[in-house]
Amino acid sequence: MSPEAGSSLQVDHLFSSSAARLDRWRELNSKAQTWAAGTRAGKGREGRSTVESALAEVRALESFFAYPGPRLMKAVADRISDEDAMGAARLIGRLSGALLSGSYRHDAGPWETADDAGGGLADRIPLAPGGGGEGRRPYFETLFVSPAPASSFVEVAQEIRRMRRPEDTMVYEPVLVGSFEDAILGTVLNGKIEAVVIYDGIPIPSQHDVPLLRAFLSSHQQLDASTAAPREVGITLARAIKRIRPELDIYLLTDRRVEQVAGDPAASMIRRVFYEVEELMEVHLSVLEGVGDRLSTPHFDNLKKYASRPIGTFHALPIARGKSISKSNWIHDMGEFYGQNLFLAESCATTGGLDSMLEPTGNIKVAQEKFARAVGADHVFFVTNGTSTSNKMVYQAVTAPGDIVIADRNCHKSHHYGMVLSGAQPVYVEAFPMTEYSMYGAVPLAAVKKALLDLQAEGRLDRVKMVTLTNCTFDGHVYNTRRVMEECLAIKPDLIFLWDEAWFGFARWSPFLRPRTAMGAAAAIEEWRATPEALKAYEAQAKELGEKLDPKDPRLMQRRLVPDPRKIRIRVYETNSVHKSMSALRQGSIVAVRDEDYSHHVSAFREAVFIHASTSPNAQIIASLDVARRQMELEGYELVMRSIETAIAIRRAVSEHPIISKYFAVLGADKMVPAAYRTSGFRDFLAPGTTWVDAIKAVNEDEFFLDPTRMTLVCGTAGFDGTSFKGLLASTYNIQLNKTSRNSVLLQTNINNTRSDVALLIKVLLEISQGIEARLAEGGDSERTAFAARVKNLMTDVPDLPNFSRFHDGYREDPKSITLEGDMRGAFFAAYNEDECEYIPLSSPQIDERLAKGPEMVSANFVIPYPPGFPIMVPGQVIAADTIGFMRKLDVKEIHGYNATRGLKLIKLSAIEKARQGASKSPAPARAQVQTAKAK
Ligand SMILES: Cc1ncc(COP(=O)(O)O)c(C=O)c1O
Repeated sequence: MSPEAGSSLQVDHLFSSSAARLDRWRELNSKAQTWAAGTRAGKGREGRSTVESALAEVRALESFFAYPGPRLMKAVADRISDEDAMGAARLIGRLSGALLSGSYRHDAGPWETADDAGGGLADRIPLAPGGGGEGRRPYFETLFVSPAPASSFVEVAQEIRRMRRPEDTMVYEPVLVGSFEDAILGTVLNGKIEAVVIYDGIPIPSQHDVPLLRAFLSSHQQLDASTAAPREVGITLARAIKRIRPELDIYLLTDRRVEQVAGDPAASMIRRVFYEVEELMEVHLSVLEGVGDRLSTPHFDNLKKYASRPIGTFHALPIARGKSISKSNWIHDMGEFYGQNLFLAESCATTGGLDSMLEPTGNIKVAQEKFARAVGADHVFFVTNGTSTSNKMVYQAVTAPGDIVIADRNCHKSHHYGMVLSGAQPVYVEAFPMTEYSMYGAVPLAAVKKALLDLQAEGRLDRVKMVTLTNCTFDGHVYNTRRVMEECLAIKPDLIFLWDEAWFGFARWSPFLRPRTAMGAAAAIEEWRATPEALKAYEAQAKELGEKLDPKDPRLMQRRLVPDPRKIRIRVYETNSVHKSMSALRQGSIVAVRDEDYSHHVSAFREAVFIHASTSPNAQIIASLDVARRQMELEGYELVMRSIETAIAIRRAVSEHPIISKYFAVLGADKMVPAAYRTSGFRDFLAPGTTWVDAIKAVNEDEFFLDPTRMTLVCGTAGFDGTSFKGLLASTYNIQLNKTSRNSVLLQTNINNTRSDVALLIKVLLEISQGIEARLAEGGDSERTAFAARVKNLMTDVPDLPNFSRFHDGYREDPKSITLEGDMRGAFFAAYNEDECEYIPLSSPQIDERLAKGPEMVSANFVIPYPPGFPIMVPGQVIAADTIGFMRKLDVKEIHGYNATRGLKLIKLSAIEKARQGASKSPAPARAQVQTAKAK
């Protein structure tokens, strides 16, 4: 995104700010060192002006950061104007180093102006006794938004610092800004800010030139302070800041009647309201307490305490305390490798301060509540067996045999298995195909609406319990979660949504992506529902389409449906592989619940936990969930912003490199999302002139948005299929990736990536590209022809992706119905009886004969090729010619559910017929029984 590297940095070019800030400091440092070297060599004034202009570039952003801060910045400027090249270079070098290493957060030295740091102002950042290490106090910054003149900021900051006490467990530096717009910029630009203190009566305009920010604010009625009464500016600011970073604590200082402000529902996002003349100490203590609450990790803290106690164990967990390991002649290396604490913290006891994950009442319960707050849910359940289990738990808890679930066929297998377990029947909806890359996109809303309307037309809407979609998809397609839910709720107001956000947990901490998360959209719908505009919009629609929608009315598919705000229930479940995008140990996952009717499922959820959770959950995984939440609430914003920046840097480096771009490309939004789903006109993050304001417009409007951190790197154009390219990167270059397609691999940045990783990747891609160039040059015509043929084979001769065909009539209650739900569970268990199954090798002509003339072939199990990783056959599905064609063309080695020596496993039609006859003789269907029981 703009600005291009090297161009002048405008403060409201938010997407590239943090990397750009450090780059500019490096630049300043290098200019200052050159000037100093020149001076030493007797070249006099030469170089000073370049240092001055580099300093001007840096200065634009610095007013939003506590470090280096006005005092050190002034010292730099003074040295330059005193022609002290050596002194300026030394100081700039130290400042730039401290910024890069972050040492200013725990050492006093970087705050000194003197070159021999170590005295004087050490009290500015008081360190814990001994400094550094375990005992050092966490450092953060607090934004003070004050109407006082800027000339008094230094004095105000000093006054705030005077509140520090030796017993404070954390230390913060104040950052002072003087307006609404500057406060927004500070919140966006400075990830170290953890709390905001707003004084009533602040002016609106920034001292900087911020056209993008103004365009954005004025297009969002709720955030537009220019239309707010002067008294409301503080509250409008609080609301805007919460939208950007909901984890921040906000305090308001006012000279109005504080009780009135505190009691105003519009001010509910403010943590505390203070009367302005009250002791500043109260504010100081509140700031520390608020951050302390996010910092505390009840389960992890307890586990650490537990590990430090002398405990004798007489239960079945020999690994606890680690003695059998450290004393062993043969396995002591395991103890040395993992360290003692891992074993000291192992326990299967729920006593002594530890809690039970299966029935939490103590610190795990509190840790889950904190996680719920962090992700904007009402409840969170910790899961120690991955989102594979989280998904199954949701199906188990909210669906019963015979319920219908509208599900993306391309979703993770845990959903399909979840339905096998619960007996829910899937109506599969198809994602748009990206045949060229042998992968799927995401499911168009039209497909989901059509499924619902068809079910309504067939009189079975009451049986539809849930809609399940994957957000974002493996390849980065992000749904317009709000729109999907609103339109579906317009058809069925009590529908449950399960959003599989296995990959997308981090998005909560990005203001760009949050509106498209399950919980972000649920909050937005809840907010919308309470506005007069909501009812107005619904009534306008009702006038046109009627109160009761006619499922056959073609207009329903052509327009955005508005749900009745008085009737809808917000029932949203999100599953989230915390371990995939945050600092949790493998398998750490959560189920987040924001369901107004959750009370209906409380006991079912307990059962689901009992059914699926191990009775020996791993305490370390639980602790890591607790810690991952702490990290994200305190630095998630900055980390996620950095990973987006890193991804954009990779995208840019690949596309701009003259050699790499000949063979490789990272697909932009325009290639990943067909134009029909990008109505905002957004093309790509790298398209010329694109800014974050365009990205936000796309986030608000488009049906699908591309998660910038998920990068499909096309390697077929370099002659590699996805699997061998992944293998090459892993074996030769130590670069690991996850997913592949026939002609691409998926690169992904996360909160762990740094700029060095970008450099490594680009270096490797260059080396590979140069290798290809050399081979083509040396090999002559024959090599070039072979290369072109290979590229064509990978990029053009791609198999069509097969759609779901249908369930066999034997597994359908009403084979004539236009909707395709079926009893997948019945088919799944039918396949347990080997005598009633048959096998036919994939290459056998018998398959072609049966496809042409029958009898139909019915799959006995799930068949899931990797890649692409979705089931091309599910139990009970009639096998169609396109599925066989696809399988025969697949060149992957890993196909789950398919035994190449025996062939496809099929259920014999005689067995289906026998089961059907048996079922017709049996009493009431299971679903009716379950529903009767639930109604009681
Ligand atoms: C969309 C989706 N959901 C769920 C899962 C399962 O998550 P976990 O690996 O945490 O069990 C995956 C795994 O890759 C996935 O891609």
